[in-house]
Amino acid sequence: CGIVGYIGHQQAWEIIIKGLHRLEYRGYDSAGVALLDNDGQLNIYKKAGKVSDLEAYAANKDLYGMLGMGHTRWATHGIPSDRNSHPHTSGDGRLSIIHNGIIENYAVIKEALLAKGHQFSSDTDTEVLIHLIEEIKDHEQVILEEAVRIALNRVIGAYAIVVMSKDEPDLLIAARKGSPLVIGVGLREYFIASDASPIIEYTKNVIYLKDNEIAYLRRDELVVKTIDNKVQTPYIQELDLKLEMLEKGGYDHFMLKEIYEQPRSVRDCMRGRIYPDSGEVQLGGIKEYAEKLKNVDRIIIVACGTSWHAGLVGEYLIEEYARVSVEVEYASEFRYRNPIITEKDIVIAISQSGETADTMAAITLAKEKGATIFGICNVVGSSIPRISHAGVYTHAGPEIGVASTKAFTAQVTALTLLAFYIAKLRGQIKRSDLTYLLTELNNIPNEIQKALAANDGIKQIAHHFTGSRNCLFLGRGSGFPVALEGALKLKEISYIHAEGYPAAEMKHGPIALIDEEMPVIFIATKNSSYEKVISNIQEVKARKGVVIAIVTKGDKHVKAIADYVIEIPESNEAFLPLLAIIPLQLLSYHIAVMRGCNVDQPRNLAKSVTVE
Ligand code: G6P
Repeated sequence: CGIVGYIGHQQAWEIIIKGLHRLEYRGYDSAGVALLDNDGQLNIYKKAGKVSDLEAYAANKDLYGMLGMGHTRWATHGIPSDRNSHPHTSGDGRLSIIHNGIIENYAVIKEALLAKGHQFSSDTDTEVLIHLIEEIKDHEQVILEEAVRIALNRVIGAYAIVVMSKDEPDLLIAARKGSPLVIGVGLREYFIASDASPIIEYTKNVIYLKDNEIAYLRRDELVVKTIDNKVQTPYIQELDLKLEMLEKGGYDHFMLKEIYEQPRSVRDCMRGRIYPDSGEVQLGGIKEYAEKLKNVDRIIIVACGTSWHAGLVGEYLIEEYARVSVEVEYASEFRYRNPIITEKDIVIAISQSGETADTMAAITLAKEKGATIFGICNVVGSSIPRISHAGVYTHAGPEIGVASTKAFTAQVTALTLLAFYIAKLRGQIKRSDLTYLLTELNNIPNEIQKALAANDGIKQIAHHFTGSRNCLFLGRGSGFPVALEGALKLKEISYIHAEGYPAAEMKHGPIALIDEEMPVIFIATKNSSYEKVISNIQEVKARKGVVIAIVTKGDKHVKAIADYVIEIPESNEAFLPLLAIIPLQLLSYHIAVMRGCNVDQPRNLAKSVTVE
């Protein structure tokens, strides 16, 4: 799931290991490095487990080499093991590869190669690819560069790969299709990585490799070609990223740092986009499509995970304010069920990474059917913004914790802006109302700051639930997606089973689970469904459930019946999700820390899922 490569005049090992640590946040279960010295000595070290396990394993070994590559693997084909870890080598051991993604037709290729006498030492699709390259190189009598290109034309699937050869101590080959790769350009040295974080401390000049491009890197030369062998002129851009954005800055975990960053990240998302005095929202990235938005009949939102929850909040807001019908779909389901899409539709992909394979596939399909595609993404220059017609960046800054926090609130902020923007275009909102709402929205970062001040109390509450096995999160209206997101946070990082439900649906099933062991977390703020939520709380209390309620500051009614309450500042209902999620993020965080879990890198999860 993470790739780092280096060619230059420095020792590759240090650069690669540091880079793999920077990529740890993406989630992985094994790691490996290949190093090549000028005499063609190729050393490969790999280990299931953490990058630190690999470091310990390689500590006294030969780590010399000014060319190399490293990989962190998130298992798809074959269990996490030393054997299945990357790099993989060709049969003669001369070629070596690291790979992110999936080779879908690997079984057919493997069969053909087995018939030709190839023997495999792992269960991975990646090993098949390097054997294919070897086969082409040896039997079709072409140089390595050509063999890689020909092989890539024969595979179906998604990949980002780096290839090196014992016979070529001045060549690294990198290629991508559907899985990101960035090249850092230094002075007689190049860096390769699956995102910019391992590169930033060496150079700010980067090239984002495009799909179906292959880069041939030599110390004195960089050539980029398409897989059809057309030479490309790579576009070198300057990174807008600072090293401190990738470090913990005094916090125990990235997740906590990112939770605390939300007043700033929400503010950054609104910056230059809202004008409360004149009642205006400006979204430069989509303004070309204003006419289309004015006349649209239906908006479809596609996303996965936390981004899907943000989409549900967006549905409430866009329907409420802009009066356009919205459907929110899991990208993975949408793409496989022959969805009805027309040229009139606008399809919005929400994605923190901008790389999620299912979301990419969903919009590729919608685009083919003629829909207009908007991206709401965080990572600038990632794949989804690139294939979208237009979009809105969330500007939350790099999110390193696997469990999404600040990206969620930034997505919700962007969707709030979008809802108001469309409402205004369609004449659905009075200028005075918009002025009022924007003034309040402008103040939300301060209110988030106040919500964060409840942290100590939340930590106290967390103590009571470290032994829980199940947990229910309930909310109504836009409190429902907040409940879903709260439940997802808890299960992701603490491994406590948690479910989010619309509060009123509790009586159609989950109520059967309630007993004195069951914590039930309610979003019970003062809004249109306040009274109804109080009835739902009574129903839980009547069955001896333990109630933790998120309430509006100063609330008395809920306080009288709930076991624990956490206050958030009062706000317009439109902005409730931005505030109510804060205590839920903190609660999950503290419970997980108290349970001794690895909050930043929960087991089995990946930050950016570039496979189906
Ligand atoms: C993974 C991550 C989640 C994220 C989801 C969608 O499952 O662990 O945190 O919400 O992917 O990712 P995206 O980058 O498309 O928002």
